[in-house]
Parts: sequence; C-alpha cells; structure tokens
Amino acid sequence: MFRTLEVDLGPRNYPIHIGPGLIDEPAILGARIVGHQVMVVTNETIAPHYLDRIERALGTYRIARVVLPDGEAYKTLETWGHIMDGLLDHRFARDCTLIALGGGVIGDIAGFAAACYQRGVAFIQVPTSLLAQVDSSVGGKTGVNHAQGKNMIGAFHQPRAVIADTDTLDTLPDSELAAGIAEVIKYGLIRDPAFFAWLEANIEQLRARDPDALAYAIERSCRNKAEVVAADELEAGERALLNLGHTFGHAIETGAGYGTWLHGEAVGAGMCMAADLSARLGWLDDNSVQRIRSLIAAVGLPTTPPANISSARLRELMAMDKKVMDNRLRLVLLQGIGKALVTADFDHVKLDETLTEAADLRAAESPEPQRH
Ligand SMILES: NC(=O)c1ccc[n+]([C@@H]2O[C@H](COP(=O)([O-])OP(=O)(O)OC[C@H]3O[C@@H](n4cnc5c(N)ncnc54)[C@H](O)[C@@H]3O)[C@@H](O)[C@H]2O)c1
Ligand SMILES: [Zn+2]
Repeated sequence: MFRTLEVDLGPRNYPIHIGPGLIDEPAILGARIVGHQVMVVTNETIAPHYLDRIERALGTYRIARVVLPDGEAYKTLETWGHIMDGLLDHRFARDCTLIALGGGVIGDIAGFAAACYQRGVAFIQVPTSLLAQVDSSVGGKTGVNHAQGKNMIGAFHQPRAVIADTDTLDTLPDSELAAGIAEVIKYGLIRDPAFFAWLEANIEQLRARDPDALAYAIERSCRNKAEVVAADELEAGERALLNLGHTFGHAIETGAGYGTWLHGEAVGAGMCMAADLSARLGWLDDNSVQRIRSLIAAVGLPTTPPANISSARLRELMAMDKKVMDNRLRLVLLQGIGKALVTADFDHVKLDETLTEAADLRAAESPEPQRH
C-alpha cells in the first residue's frame, strides 16, 4: 500500500511514491527508468542495508554502482568526478538512468552528476533519510559544496521520480530522524497551520516512528514542497520561504564547527530565533512563539544556539550568508503560524536583541543535541 503525489511541472511532471517496501518493487522503479543502463549511487553506510535489494529489483537492467564514503565532507567536485569516471568507464550512453540511494548528500551529488553527464541524463531519487524524503529529494536542486561555501556549485535538474520507501527509516539514527522533523515542522510554519497543529498532537508518535504517523507526515510535507516547487521552480519568490530558520541555522552550523550540529538541529534553533525576532517586530504573538518553541523542544531539538558562539559571531556569520543580496540581509520571518514572508526590511536592533536573548536563554533551557 503506497501513496502517490505528482509534482506539477508540465512536461517534466514526476511522481512521488511514498510507502513501505518500495525499493523491492521492480514495476515502480522500472516505470520511470530511461534506457537499459542504470547506475546506483549510494554510500558505505547505506549500501550494506539496501544496495543488494534495489539491485535485485532492477534485475533486468545493466547495473553499475558507485559507493561513496559517508558524509557532507564528501559532497565535493572530486567525489562528483568519481561518478563521472564510473559512467565513462562503463560506457554509459545518453539514455541511461542514475539512481540516488541515500540521504540528501547522495541525492544532491548524484543529481548533479545526472545534470552534467552528457549535458543531462535521467535520474531517480530513492531517499533514505527523513530529511531527504520530505525535502531534498523533491524539487530538482542538485549540487556540491566548495571550500568557500555550501551548495555553491550546482544545477536545477528534476528527477524522473521520487521513491520514498518508508521502511528504510528503520535504520536511521534517532538524531537524524529528529533533524528531519525540523524540516517537517517548517512546512507547517510557512504555509500549513493545520499541519502544524497535527504535529503538535502527534509528535510523540513521530518520535516513536509510528508508521502511519510517519507516512502521513512525509506525504503532507512532500505535498507542501511540491506545491511550492510547482509555483516557483527556480526560486524567484515563494520557494525562498523554504529557508525559514536557515540563515540563523547556517550561522550556527558554521560557527559550531563543521559536523558538530546536524543541519536540522541548527534549523530547529534557527526557527525559534526567527519566531523570536518576528515577535519583537510585533508580527507574531507570544503564544505562537511559545507553541513553536515547545514543539521543537518536544522533538528533542535545540531551541537556542550552542554555547560556544557569541551573539556577535552569529551576527557576523549571518551577514555572510548567501541570501545577502545587494548588501542587505534578507530573512524569512513569520506573521503567524502558517504565514511567512521574506524581507530585508526589519529593524536590525531587534535582530541584535534576538541574538543576545538566545545566548541568555540557552544556558537555562536548551541542552546540546544528544547523539545516539
Ligand atoms: N537539494 C535540496 O533541495 C536540499 C534540501 C535540503 C537539504 N539538502 C542537502 O541535503 C544534505 C543533508 O541531507 P541528510 O540530512 O539526508 O544528510 P546525509 O545524506 O548526510 O544523511 C544523514 C546520515 O544518515 C545516514 N543515512 C541516510 N539514510 C539512512 C538509512 N536509511 N539508514 C541508516 N543511515 C542512513 C547517512 O549515511 C548519513 O550518515 C545536505 O547536504 C543539504 O545541503 C538539499
Ligand atoms: Zn534545510
């Protein structure tokens, strides 16, 4: 039993299938494969669990595999080059298909390889982390990092399908599950207040990995993401709202030191800070700020930045964020739960207050993320 949504992009429409056991389904995978040559790109953590299974389901194709080392540190042009080498070594033709089997790192890098190989070949996302199932696999943003910035090299290249096998989440560590829930909460905050209320009521079920709750949260998140992408594929407007909490979050990720905080953890704290600033500007009521903080805390995510970054350093790092355009810092802020806007037009004294207050609060209420 699985659910299917469509991403509405005219001639580049594609399905998102969500359900248990999908990586074992030849018909679902095969329906969107182009050509006879298929390359599965995955990493050393995911391969032992799922690579043989997906290859078995792909039995009739000529299959090649690239197994990369695990980690954001490998989301580089060098690793991307290894995929290119593999495609050329195996004489892959233009009508071939890449399959990204993994989290957001694998999806981004394999998607970027597909965007570039022979000027663009087909690819299918088989996301295995919650973050990838609800966010990164949908929407066609692909790319790699550069020493000078995250995701600085990349392309828009839509997949031919997204196949989210919810059973694969069984092996995902708890901390990664929580980090994915941060992005799920984000959809509620920017455009879906009823979903936010559902999350408040069902957060314990999600943390306990109740299959029905997870499937529902993934489907509703994908529907929100698909609608935003269909309305604004190239991020000329509305798609930027998906960055709620991310300017604060990127500053935390960089300031805490690479790999110390998971992306979703930083986004959790970042969304609390965006809510705090919105309230200081008079746009959001205190009760909503409290609801946001409580939900993020209930996931086990931090609500304030780590102790080793000063508010001055956070401010400096935020100014460097790539969403700075024309020298103006643009932030996604809230006018209510379910209503967000992007603006450079806010009082910077209030931003300083938010950063200082977060530093004061953290000792009192927010533990450092717990690793499992
Ligand atoms: N393209 C986009 O629109 C978009 C959106 C958001 C994030 N991203 C990118 O996504 C990346 C983050 O994605 P992520 O959080 O999935 O990180 P990730 O790919 O590093 O996966 C997190 C960890 O979980 C492991 N893992 C994944 N699935 C597993 C499973 N089923 N069982 C056991 N372990 C599993 C991975 O090996 C890794 O160690 C970042 O590079 C970010 O820039 C892209
Ligand atoms: Zn994110």
